[in-house]
Amino acid sequence: MNKKIIYLIISLMSFALISLMVIQVYWIKNTLMVKQAIFIRDVDAAVTNTVYALERIDRALTYTKQKELLSQNKLLLNNSADTLKQSLISNLLNFSPNININDINNSGFSSQRIIENLFSQSKKLNVFVENRISTQLIDSLLQREFRAANINTKYEFGVYNPSRNKLVLQKSGKYPKALLSSRFRYFLFPGDIFSQHDSLMLYFPYEQQFLITRLWVLLFISFFLISAIIFSFTYVVSTVFRQKKVSEMRNDFINNMTHEFKTPISTISLACEALSDKDIVKTNGFYESYIKVISEENGRLSGMAEKILQSARFQKGEIILKMENINIHEALNDAISKINLQIEKKGGVIHTDLNATHTIIQADRVHITNIIFNLLDNANKYTPWAPIIHISTKTIGQGILFTIKDNGVGISKSNQKRVFEKLYRVPTGNIHNVKGFGLGLSYVKTIVEKHNGKITLESELKKGSSFSVYLPFNTILKQA
Ligand SMILES: Nc1ncnc2c1ncn2[C@@H]1O[C@H](COP(=O)(O)OP(=O)(O)O)[C@@H](O)[C@H]1O
Ligand SMILES: [Mg+2]
Repeated sequence: MNKKIIYLIISLMSFALISLMVIQVYWIKNTLMVKQAIFIRDVDAAVTNTVYALERIDRALTYTKQKELLSQNKLLLNNSADTLKQSLISNLLNFSPNININDINNSGFSSQRIIENLFSQSKKLNVFVENRISTQLIDSLLQREFRAANINTKYEFGVYNPSRNKLVLQKSGKYPKALLSSRFRYFLFPGDIFSQHDSLMLYFPYEQQFLITRLWVLLFISFFLISAIIFSFTYVVSTVFRQKKVSEMRNDFINNMTHEFKTPISTISLACEALSDKDIVKTNGFYESYIKVISEENGRLSGMAEKILQSARFQKGEIILKMENINIHEALNDAISKINLQIEKKGGVIHTDLNATHTIIQADRVHITNIIFNLLDNANKYTPWAPIIHISTKTIGQGILFTIKDNGVGISKSNQKRVFEKLYRVPTGNIHNVKGFGLGLSYVKTIVEKHNGKITLESELKKGSSFSVYLPFNTILKQA
């Protein structure tokens, strides 16, 4: 797939996903608002019921008190006034039973006076709200109403008196500030005409949580669906990228292979041409040198074919190790003597520091020689300047550790994990000056692990790399 199309699809999908999420959030918010409106309505209804119940109870109580006062006052009245006054004042008393009859009598009787008295007396009548109702009474009424309305969240209430400008009653007293600024406020005793109304204030400390728990099914489903989409989306995208990488690596491999095969093939065909050319005078030396070239190139070809075949075999897990006692120091020295010429040609040098005391291990001679050579070959190949290679060994526990360190181009942190993957080569842009198939390190790692060993890599870009291989003295082969 084209890179542009992939990015287009990714941005389209991301856009769709983000829009979906935004819409989802919008809907959830809307639903929350609706739930909140319903909650406010239910609370209003429940508290209104409570307020009326309180008023009914209060009226019943005042009625009994009034009756008592009335009978007392009537006694007083009978001995202090004429009949007209009596009937008027008795009417007034019905309205306001605790009028001081003596006051009226002493000040003379006039309609204006009656009205004045009416107001002043009714103010006196208005006893403090905390004496009319109790917290327990309000609480039990509210509890009953809330239960009926299915409002089962913690609540706090208080009674606010405007003339004293304070909360005169409170349920727990924990949230005075929240109560005073609460939107739930209701006038108490709406039937009182002459007094300033006290208000019943309510506050729900866990209102938001209560509303959200009512939405949890919706929230859960949305969350689940969105996570499912995000998961599938990232999975698909990462698969596409992985496949793309793999196919790129395959292409690289094939390009490399053709290139590598082409050189010996064309050398051989040139040599053949020369041999069959009748115009060239052939001396004995001529034949020898040309046949040598052909056989060398042929050797290279079969070596490469073998490498590729071997790696294919590895993939299927078909490696059989032939265990024997080998001397690691000898194997290292062998490999060094093979590569030394190339290093010296580049003006480089190999330092050895072979300190291991126990150097004989049980291992497969061919494979161990191969991995040492692979590591040395890499150290040489990936050092564009004069290579300075350090080789050291030491005994660690029940095994030997050898390290091959170079001063080459180094490997970045992100690539360090990947160089052991099959076919992986550190991308170098369009410069392909170092040949290879990306098979070496994956082979090394497989062989080391087959021997129950371990390979580690330390590297810094432009400074160099250091590969350390640990191999146990005695390998107990795992049965595949
Ligand atoms: N000593 C080293 N210094 C820097 N880079 C290295 C070194 N050894 C390996 N690499 C990087 O790791 C990649 C994989 O190595 P390898 O599997 O041996 O494949 P190849 O040598 O055929 O490219 C190489 O292409 C190279 O980019
Ligand atoms: Mg290599």
